[in-house]
Amino acid sequence: MIYTFKIFRFDPKKDREPCQQEFSVDLGDAEKVTVLDALFKIQQTKDKTLSFRYSCRLAMCGSCALVINGKEGLACKTLIKDLGSGTISLGPLRHIPIVKDLTVDLKSLINRLKKMEPYFIPRSPAATEPAIIKPTSRERKIIGLNTECIACGSCVSACTMMHWAPESIGPMGLNRAFCLIADSRDLPGRRLMGIADENGVYRCHMEFNCTDVCPKHISPTRGIHYLKRQIFWQGLKNLNPFRRGRNE
Ligand code: SF4
Ligand code: FES
Repeated sequence: MIYTFKIFRFDPKKDREPCQQEFSVDLGDAEKVTVLDALFKIQQTKDKTLSFRYSCRLAMCGSCALVINGKEGLACKTLIKDLGSGTISLGPLRHIPIVKDLTVDLKSLINRLKKMEPYFIPRSPAATEPAIIKPTSRERKIIGLNTECIACGSCVSACTMMHWAPESIGPMGLNRAFCLIADSRDLPGRRLMGIADENGVYRCHMEFNCTDVCPKHISPTRGIHYLKRQIFWQGLKNLNPFRRGRNE
């Protein structure tokens, strides 16, 4: 069966403006053909210069996230048959600088992550082994699926706030912060205070766009809500004169 694709094209080194280019390709019965397969076919048979990123082809690495028919998704996971019979539009992730065509510059995603220190900081540096959080514990249930993030950037692309505040951490970094802050083995305090401003959790207006597009069924919004509550309780603790007196 012939499918038509409208693909975003832009080479910042050569082009003044981006444009949409149409390609029609025969994908057979397309029962198990993914958007990534279609991109390979277009690249191999129509235009070798078409640029896109991929690695694992198993929905594990997060490299192939695109805007597919207006909504973020993984090219290697999205089946053509699920996209209807009309023209399929493919664009790069939003709010991330473009390297070429569908390939975006992941450095900007990494830099956002760095703002919240995305690595484990042990609460007790003397401990040789971190304590184990039991899978059945309440703590593990609160953290839930959110550790499954593959850093695909779909949530950053879908978040409308990233348009108005490109310097903010965004849902991907805040989801990582949630996973660490909700983990009792991680050093409390510093990380939480680092995200308690208008470029951190308060930039989130709870629109749930990130939750809607996450290919791993994570809700960064839920994590951000948890962080806002933690900051609130931390603020109350600091205001409490009895506690303050004890600490002084
Ligand atoms: S939270 Fe989901 S959408 Fe956001 S980067 Fe992680 S896997 Fe991708
Ligand atoms: S190629 Fe790795 S997630 Fe799609």
